[in-house]
Amino acid sequence: MNEAIRPGPENPEQALARQASSQQASSQPPTQQASGPQALGPLLLSVVVPTFNERDNVTKLFHKLEATLAGIAWEVIFVDDNSPDGTSEVVRGLARQDSRVRCIRRIGRRGLSGACIEGILASSAPYAAVMDADLQHDESQLPKMLALLQSGQRELVVGSRYVEGGNADSFNKQRAGASAIATELAKRVLSVSIADPMSGFFMIRRDRFEQLAPQLSTQGFKILLDIVATARGELRTVEVPYSFGSRLHGESKLDSMVALDFLGLVLAKLTNDVVSLRFFLFAMVGGTGLFVHLGTLYFVLKLFEAPFAQAQAAGAFVAMTSNFILNNFLTYRDQRLKGFAILRGLLAFYLVCSVGLFANVGVAFSVYKQQPIWWLAGAAGALMGVVWNYAMSGLFVWRKR
Ligand code: GDD
Ligand code: MN
Repeated sequence: MNEAIRPGPENPEQALARQASSQQASSQPPTQQASGPQALGPLLLSVVVPTFNERDNVTKLFHKLEATLAGIAWEVIFVDDNSPDGTSEVVRGLARQDSRVRCIRRIGRRGLSGACIEGILASSAPYAAVMDADLQHDESQLPKMLALLQSGQRELVVGSRYVEGGNADSFNKQRAGASAIATELAKRVLSVSIADPMSGFFMIRRDRFEQLAPQLSTQGFKILLDIVATARGELRTVEVPYSFGSRLHGESKLDSMVALDFLGLVLAKLTNDVVSLRFFLFAMVGGTGLFVHLGTLYFVLKLFEAPFAQAQAAGAFVAMTSNFILNNFLTYRDQRLKGFAILRGLLAFYLVCSVGLFANVGVAFSVYKQQPIWWLAGAAGALMGVVWNYAMSGLFVWRKR
């Protein structure tokens, strides 16, 4: 079902794509092109570009799109997460000059996947493309990708670095290795069959995307992998090779946290979304809390020779505090509390966890009464505690704004 378009002699599908794109160009007399976007007929393509600190790249990208998409009715939607460098002001400047440009400015939220989803859902063209703002993705592939979707035989076209003719030579060794491992893992564990499920460059039919959208994760980086895994092999897909370029200005926003995001997404898809990415991170942090608790307990007992009850209380206190800090940095980093809100959040977190402890002990006790198996009762209590803490933290500590 999934194939790659190869360079070299043309296959029938490529011929089709070429015909479709040349038809498009030739059906537009040059005078019509000069008279503005309205003359091109109904909107065909929405290009969605997530941005975070890309001020110096957006104008260049717009002009490149303008050149490569001449003769096509297109628009571009920049989805900016309130970049401190003022990206949204530059985009608004462009938008005032040209109505094909739109800007969505999101406040209090971060995340590449969420931005892409929101951008696609805020647009209406029958086809939507997603690409980086930094010119690493080759915009000159867009007409070919569009023609492949328009032919009706494909529903998703992926700009691919890992099929013949594509490459990611601009990657350093470390990044290339990480990308290869993640790709292999995704292919095996999630039975994804495309060569480059980690690509951030693709075009999809709107109707198919709208069907899948409610099941997609707004957290994380890997929107294409999410789409492909969620569709479970039911999207007719083709890959077109391109060469992953170097970033023009600014720096990459991918950090080491992305690896954790990726694992969480794999887990979410494996468990049919029972375990969300956020819950996975929350539970991981909870696991570290156990070690912090025991470490503190040992320390206070041995060094201060404190009575056990007090040492235990100190352990719980330190563990809750470290859990809060880690969750604020990791689990909820897209909604990170700052300034005074940290103190308010920390107090709310203590409260939530204290009630969680009662729930934990209560459940463990009632399980133990029915089945006196210590580890089963203990695990049931711990599970109850983490589910409670997770649910209540989402409501009272890191409230969605
Ligand atoms: N709105 C928004 N919010 N945009 C973001 C955020 C965010 O939190 N984080 C990153 N972006 C934007 C960047 O401004 C850029 O336009 C695009 O998303 C990709 O981010 P980069 O920081 O340039 O990532 P990369 O180049 O290291 O990785 C990209 O290419 C890989 C290979 O194709 C991403 O697209 C990866 O998903 C992809 O695997
Ligand atoms: Mn990039």
